Amino acid sequence: MPRSAKQKVTKAIFPVAGLGTRFLPATKSVPKEIMTLVDRPLVQYAIDEARAAGIKEFIFVTSRGKGALEDYFDHAPALEQELRKKGKDALLEVLKDTNMDSGAIAYIRQHKALGLGHAVWCARRLIANEPFAVILPDDVIAAEKPCLQQMVEAYAETGGNMVATMEASPEQTSSYGVLDPSAGASISGAVVAARGMVEKPAPGTAPSNLAVIGRYILGPSVLRNLNQMKQGAGGEIQLTDAIAEDIAAAVPTHGFRFKGERYDCGSKAGFLQATVAFALSRPELREDLMGYISKVAQVDKAAE
Ligand code: UTP
Repeated sequence: MPRSAKQKVTKAIFPVAGLGTRFLPATKSVPKEIMTLVDRPLVQYAIDEARAAGIKEFIFVTSRGKGALEDYFDHAPALEQELRKKGKDALLEVLKDTNMDSGAIAYIRQHKALGLGHAVWCARRLIANEPFAVILPDDVIAAEKPCLQQMVEAYAETGGNMVATMEASPEQTSSYGVLDPSAGASISGAVVAARGMVEKPAPGTAPSNLAVIGRYILGPSVLRNLNQMKQGAGGEIQLTDAIAEDIAAAVPTHGFRFKGERYDCGSKAGFLQATVAFALSRPELREDLMGYISKVAQVDKAAE
């Protein structure tokens, strides 16, 4: 077993400094990560997933205008007192998930949105010589066993770097980082060895149909690669390029085909689909919502 495989992953970086332009005008004043699926902000799903995977330190890379995100994790004594007075114990319990112990959460500022790689690099001083996770809260994954937990378990065997992947159509791959599987690697198992990674390959040039989504377990050498501040696709400093550099330096890197349903909550269509899916999974909402959906579907069909 590689040496790094013995190191536990206890820190996670949450890059949330992007501009969120696809949700303007809302994101003019509301951080994308605070937008809610039913009644829980995207960032709560990300934190829950990280906790389930054994993460103890939560590092947010934020930017101007993300204050609501920082407030979200504070204790709210006046609100809690009011709920206690009214005997609303269930709501008090719900609030517990939103609280972070002092020192468990850190906020680092990315002064300019120079790319995901740059955002991760901004957190470098809070990561020692240890592996760390990266979670993009706008990728929400519904899974029986949370995605990062699945990855941490697989990583205990592989070490190196691990990126979550999903199958994408040829039309989709040009919007993602794409895995180049090692020669002879089986791409049907959960863990796929990589010999390269390409960010947003031009249509028709993708090395596989395995698109990288927003969950990573990375070694500290990726942060060192980012020191060079190389600009990649779209003029941004790309995390994909820093991982590809590791692969070129023979650091074992694997794609992980997680079990679960991923929603791209950075896009309006994905966000709406996630809203419906998460609402339908709530027993108190399901019947009403199903009734409404079938009514809309019938009206739509009649209009055809
Ligand atoms: P996106 O590509 O979704 O960009 O970033 P965005 O700015 O959030 O949204 P749009 O495309 O303008 O609508 C993917 C993730 O990387 C973070 C984002 O916050 C998001 O979690 N990111 C991106 C940064 O933290 N900094 C950056 O410079 C770029």
